[in-house]
Amino acid sequence: MAFLEVRNIHKQFGDLVVLKGIDFDLERGEVLSIIGSSGNGKTTLLRCINFLEIASVGTIALDGEEIFSADKKYTDKELTKIQHDIGLVFQSFNLFPQYTALQNVTLALDVKAENELKEQKIGYFQRKKLMKDIKKENIEYAKSILDKVGLIDKIDYYPCQLSGGQQQRVAIARALSLKPKILCFDEPTSALDPELTGEVLRVIKELKSPEIAMIIVTHEMKFAKEVSDKVIFMADGLIEEMGTTEQIFEKSQNPKTLAFLGNFAE
Ligand SMILES: Nc1ncnc2c1ncn2[C@@H]1O[C@H](COP(=O)(O)OP(=O)(O)OP(=O)(O)O)[C@@H](O)[C@H]1O
Ligand SMILES: [Mg+2]
Repeated sequence: MAFLEVRNIHKQFGDLVVLKGIDFDLERGEVLSIIGSSGNGKTTLLRCINFLEIASVGTIALDGEEIFSADKKYTDKELTKIQHDIGLVFQSFNLFPQYTALQNVTLALDVKAENELKEQKIGYFQRKKLMKDIKKENIEYAKSILDKVGLIDKIDYYPCQLSGGQQQRVAIARALSLKPKILCFDEPTSALDPELTGEVLRVIKELKSPEIAMIIVTHEMKFAKEVSDKVIFMADGLIEEMGTTEQIFEKSQNPKTLAFLGNFAE
């Protein structure tokens, strides 16, 4: 059984069928890039894997356990819990403007810890007491993660005081701090000026490790080629072609893949 097994995912919005049966496997430590033209359902697929959208058909298994089946109903609480295993970094950072870089990371950690204590049915006053120490630990841990993405000297800056690339690195630190099993990126550099994309791509590349699997929707073909173990080319809500970077970028015979990649030829 693969680490992540995505099976037969369908999604429609009203009459618009966006995903028409998506199947793929991903192993721990692997990086998967998803490429394809605009409007083909790449973001929708990531959102279904993160349960920000609920697939109409299909199942998802992670680490030997079925975490989603479209046949079942889930409460918001259940969805939040499985979302902790699957981080998502958005195109537009989605930081809280009223909080510093450090607070943006610690807030996510504190909420997660508090939810876990609630789940263990620990009462209000005991929880308050425990959270005091946990919050202190979270600050130190958040600092170490912000250090990892090269922002230790910016921890007290507010998002408006940071460049786009720095804001995206805070968003990456926030997602990473929750220790997800899968980390997803939806065009992490598309809102950035070209001179800022390099620093973000470098950080993502450095995150590649045997502990985590990553799924990256990107239009940065050079980056996808460098970082990926697998590539999916999506067209019309389906996986048109899937393979190693070599199979997709060097050896593809598929006319749709070739036409798409032709747009990026230098
Ligand atoms: N919440 C929604 N309600 C209705 N339609 C939606 C919704 N989300 C996405 N869609 C539609 O689904 C289709 C696929 O959108 P999606 O954002 O997944 O494409 P994409 O491949 O990520 O495109 P891009 O490369 O431009 O980001 C589009 O036609 C879009 O309008
Ligand atoms: Mg998109």
